[in-house]
Amino acid sequence: MRNRVIAAATGVALVAMLVAAQSRADEDEIVVEDVEFTDAYMSDSANIKQGHEIWVEQCQHCHGSKAYPGKAPKLKPRKYKPDFVFYRVTKGFKGMPPWKDVYSLEERMAVVSYVMSKEFSP
Ligand code: HEC
Repeated sequence: MRNRVIAAATGVALVAMLVAAQSRADEDEIVVEDVEFTDAYMSDSANIKQGHEIWVEQCQHCHGSKAYPGKAPKLKPRKYKPDFVFYRVTKGFKGMPPWKDVYSLEERMAVVSYVMSKEFSP
């Protein structure tokens, strides 16, 4: 009986490892576009506004101040460069899914401009 429990647990662990390996492989296949975040782009209020809408719709329930502590780390825009935020948003990272198939290039860039803006309020 005990052996069977151990065998079952090993099986579960193996499946978990396979699933993890598979999702890492998917992440590796995600190509991050080469983008340039100019000052003009970053300060354009239309981009920031569009990014804010995406933030409220998709990011806030994990990264928002009401979600702390737990689901996702508090973002620290002052420590980031736009390229880093874009990279993480596009490709995902550990507990965060990639957003490349969910949001267009334009939308992902817009959310970067919002996160990096002085309007950003998690
Ligand atoms: C399902 C919950 C969830 C959602 C939704 C989500 N994230 Fe995340 N995000 C995470 C987690 C968890 C991490 C941290 C991964 C790690 O480091 O282990 C993270 C990491 C990040 C990072 C890197 C932070 C750092 O300091 O390294 C950025 C930037 C980010 N998310 C932005 C976004 C944006 C923008 C959106 C909306 C498009 C979003 N996230 C939606 C869970 C989420």
